[in-house]
Amino acid sequence: MSTGGKPRVLLMHPILDPGPGILTEAADVIAYPKDQPLDEAGIRKAAEGCVGIVSQVRDPIRETVLATPGLKIVSNVAVGYDNIDVAAATAHKVMVTNTPGVLDDTTSDFAFALLMAAARRVVEADYFTRSGKFKGWEIDMMLGHDVHDATLGIIGIGRIGRGMAHRAKGFNMRVIYYDPNPLLPEVEQQLAATRVDLGRLLAESDFISIHVPLTKDTQHLISTAQLGLMKPNAILINTSRGPVVDEAALADALKTKKIAGAGLDVYEREPAIHPGLITLPNVVLAPHIASGSIRTRSEMSAMAARNMATAVRGGRPPNLLNPEVKK
Ligand code: DGY
Repeated sequence: MSTGGKPRVLLMHPILDPGPGILTEAADVIAYPKDQPLDEAGIRKAAEGCVGIVSQVRDPIRETVLATPGLKIVSNVAVGYDNIDVAAATAHKVMVTNTPGVLDDTTSDFAFALLMAAARRVVEADYFTRSGKFKGWEIDMMLGHDVHDATLGIIGIGRIGRGMAHRAKGFNMRVIYYDPNPLLPEVEQQLAATRVDLGRLLAESDFISIHVPLTKDTQHLISTAQLGLMKPNAILINTSRGPVVDEAALADALKTKKIAGAGLDVYEREPAIHPGLITLPNVVLAPHIASGSIRTRSEMSAMAARNMATAVRGGRPPNLLNPEVKK
């Protein structure tokens, strides 16, 4: 659909350069009204007359939105796309795209940063020092857990999981992984990673890092039973999606010291965080910023804009998730 000029595209939230320039060359870009709630009804209303929506992870793009007449493409500025009902999009012949590949290393960097911070109590130590509690060196002050030589269990050995394994080599860690799809033997060898079942991974790891998409199968993959299998010194890192971990069960396990710590970038009901987690010193909390380096967020913006521009011009966008829509 067009206003007489270029086709119209709804930009849900600002994106970074060079994304806006790429978009405006191809389309008339309208911004989602700032005062409108981020719900399906609001998005549907704003999307009327648009051929495309540039969405982000907190935008619910489901049946109501996808049934908007004339809508051809939803370009998500993220690799994860659990905010979009892809099956409904396909049924309505709406293309869906994401931004794979550009954020892998940045996300692995951050998962490792959370791991280090939780292991060596970096956030607690910063608070302790700033608040004037440091009165001199003490032999037992703020003792943490060694990262080097420890066992890292990686749940999900996709690009970001493999990035974790690669980083772990530098710390001489033993790496085990759980994934329904095994790595090729030569990749396993290169990463020095051994495939195990989930129970063994949970029981043997000192650090467990989650790198799976959110699906029906991965929702609450880590709950009370799985936390119960972990070692008392275990530290859980989640930079994937919040609902993969049962947050109430995790808060309980951390409070009762069933496990030693956690580092979280994502939450079950973002931006809400389980109140039990907020007050605990043994969890490091971040606001969903694992892919948040200046360069990566700019590359994600450009990639999403290119996907949109290609589709708007009648082409097949490079990162199409439902190719059956565009033969
Ligand atoms: C993603 O890309 O899925 C992240 O969660 C946001 O960068």
